[in-house]
Amino acid sequence: METKLVLVIVVVLAVGAAAEYVRPPPRKTIHFPWDPKPTSYPQQVHISLAGDKHMRITWVTSDKHSPSVVEYGTSSKNYTSRAEGESTSYSYLLYTSGKIHHTVIGPLEDNKLYFYRCGREGPEFQLKTPPSQFPVMLAVAGDLGQTGWTKSTLDHIDQCKYDLHLLPGDLAYADYIQHRWDTFGELVQPLASSRPWMVTQGNHEKENIPFFEDRFVSYNSRWKMPYEESKSSSNLYYSFDVAGIHAIMLGSYTDYDESSDQYNWLKADLSKVDREKTPWLLVLFHVPWYNSNYAHQGEGDDMMAAMEPLLHAAGVDVVFAGHVHAYERSVRVFNGKPDPCGAVHITIGDGGNKEGLAHKYLDPHPEWSVFREASFGHGELKIVNSTHALWSWHRNDDDEPVRSDQIWITSLFGSGCLAEKGHELREMLMQP
Ligand SMILES: [Fe+2]
Repeated sequence: METKLVLVIVVVLAVGAAAEYVRPPPRKTIHFPWDPKPTSYPQQVHISLAGDKHMRITWVTSDKHSPSVVEYGTSSKNYTSRAEGESTSYSYLLYTSGKIHHTVIGPLEDNKLYFYRCGREGPEFQLKTPPSQFPVMLAVAGDLGQTGWTKSTLDHIDQCKYDLHLLPGDLAYADYIQHRWDTFGELVQPLASSRPWMVTQGNHEKENIPFFEDRFVSYNSRWKMPYEESKSSSNLYYSFDVAGIHAIMLGSYTDYDESSDQYNWLKADLSKVDREKTPWLLVLFHVPWYNSNYAHQGEGDDMMAAMEPLLHAAGVDVVFAGHVHAYERSVRVFNGKPDPCGAVHITIGDGGNKEGLAHKYLDPHPEWSVFREASFGHGELKIVNSTHALWSWHRNDDDEPVRSDQIWITSLFGSGCLAEKGHELREMLMQP
C-alpha cells in the first residue's frame, strides 16, 4: 500500500514537472572543426531577391582568381543559363576576407526550383523562387548568432516550408572577430542557399573602431541587399516586393530624422506603393519601438518619434523588430496607444544567440502588449490572401517547435483605414 502511494505521488510530481515549461539557459557557441577545401570551392552561399524576377547569389572563395560566374537551369546539372557578377573583399585589422562574389541571375520563373553552381566549381545548389501570388510563407527570426539554440531555430525554420526568410538584425554575433562571419555563413548556408534571406542590420553588425574601422564594413561586404534595385543609396535601408507584399527594411543605426537620406528615401519609397498590387505592407528594423521588456527599454524612442507618423499614414500592417532577446506581440498600435489603423508590432529577437534571454518585463504590462515571453524560437507569417494572414510564434521547447502564440491578422487594405489615411500620407509625402 505504501509503495503504491509513493508511486502515485511520484507520477503526480512528474506530470506536474512536465507541464511547467522551464526556460533553458543559453547554449554554447557551436564549434566549427577546421575543414580545408580547395581554394576555389564556393563557401557561405546565400541568396537574396534582387529586383523583379531576379536573385542575387553570394558566395566566398579563398581563391582571388575564381570567377564570379553562376551557371543555372531548371534541371540538375543541365545549366542552360549563365550570369557573371561582381566581387569585393575587405580587410579588418589583421584579417583579410576571401573573395566575396555577388552575381545576379534571372529573369527567373516564379515558384520554380532552380539548380545552380558557383564559380564553375564545387557542388550543385538548389533554390526555389517565391510565388508571385498568395499564399506565401515568410519565416522570421532575428538575433540569430551561432549557438546550439541557433541550430535548433534553423532546424525548425527548415521544417516549415517557407518561401523567404526575414531577419530583423543581429546575424553572426562576430563582434569584431571576423572569422565568425565565415562560420556563420557556413552555418546558415543550407537554408540561405535555397531560399532568399532578406536581412537588415543590428548593433552587432556595427563593428566600428574609431579612427580604424568604419561601421558595417563586414555586413555590407557580405550581405548585399537590393538597395540599388529599390533606389536607395545605402545597403542599410531598402525595400522589395514579393507575392503581394511590399517589405521595407530600415536601419536603426543610421540617421533617421526628417532631414536624413533614410527618411527621404522612405518617403519616396512609400509614394510608389500601390496597395492594389501589394496589399500587405511590412516594415523591419532592429530596435523595437514597442517593447515592455527591461532590456533595451526606450532605445527605439527617437526613431519612433521621427518615423512612426509616416509609417502610420502609409498604413503599415506589421512591424518586425529584434534586439530584445524575447518574443512580444502588440495589438494594432500608434503613438503608444491601441489604434485600429496602427501597425501590429512584433519583437522577435529570440533566434538563439550567445547572450541568452531577456527575462525581466515591466509590470503591469502596457495595454498594447498582448503576448510576451522570454524564450528562443521563430515566427511564421503565412499570408493567405490580400486581407488575411496567419501569424504564429514557435518556441524552441526541448528542441521541438511548439506553437505558443497564434493569431489571424487582417490587412489594412480591406479595412477602410487606408482611405482615411490617403490625404494624411499625401500631405506628409509632399512636405520638403
Ligand atoms: Fe541587437
